[in-house]
Amino acid sequence: MKYVIANWKMYLDAKKSLELIAEVKGQLSKVKGLHVVICPSFLSLSDILNTKHLTLNFDLGAQDCFWAERGAHTGEVSPTDLLESGVKYVIIGHSERRQELGETDEMVNKKLQAVQKAGLMPILCVGETAQERERGKAEEVVSNQLVKDLVGVDASKILIAYEPIWAIGTGKSCEPSEAVKMHQLIKSKTNNAPVLYGGSVDDKNVASYVAEEVVDGVLVGGASTKPEVFTNLLKNVSNL
Ligand code: PGA
Repeated sequence: MKYVIANWKMYLDAKKSLELIAEVKGQLSKVKGLHVVICPSFLSLSDILNTKHLTLNFDLGAQDCFWAERGAHTGEVSPTDLLESGVKYVIIGHSERRQELGETDEMVNKKLQAVQKAGLMPILCVGETAQERERGKAEEVVSNQLVKDLVGVDASKILIAYEPIWAIGTGKSCEPSEAVKMHQLIKSKTNNAPVLYGGSVDDKNVASYVAEEVVDGVLVGGASTKPEVFTNLLKNVSNL
């Protein structure tokens, strides 16, 4: 079954998040043969969870969490608290966190271990910059991230998102044939873990990725926050 992970980043406030659910609920209730995971801001998690009584077909994800279960960690969010609040998936190591907040592979690794220990499914993001790709280093960079991030992590309980940094939020999506090569590489290094593609996925190009056997789904940012585009995207993938 293919995945559609909606990463709402910090785009929407609580009210707009609920409005978006209301606008896409027609399609969400019809989704079949697809794992849809919605990752709103922390503050919207419980509101969104409450809409599940409408028998909407999705799971809830968080966009990050801390590596400790409890303690003196001002401003952080515990993986066990996320589990208790109904979250099933957690995005870890998104390039925006790596670049804006200096999140290192060591930190990503600790978070992955904590998320698995808590019984949540991590979605690990890896990917190269434009410069690294131009220098022919994309495969090396992604392989190195995997080696460092996955120390002591159970590779059978993880989703990996291949997200080339130059494709995120730019409208310059990666050619599906190029994504396929990177997915094959990631699968060969992770005992065949499910690999999702992320970076400027929208309703128009989603099918070209999901139709590929080695693409186990998509991680969608901006397009998943626009009701019409998100509805069409779900429709286009459900029809495959
Ligand atoms: P985008 O973001 O779809 O807006 O390019 C993807 C992501 O960062 O997860």
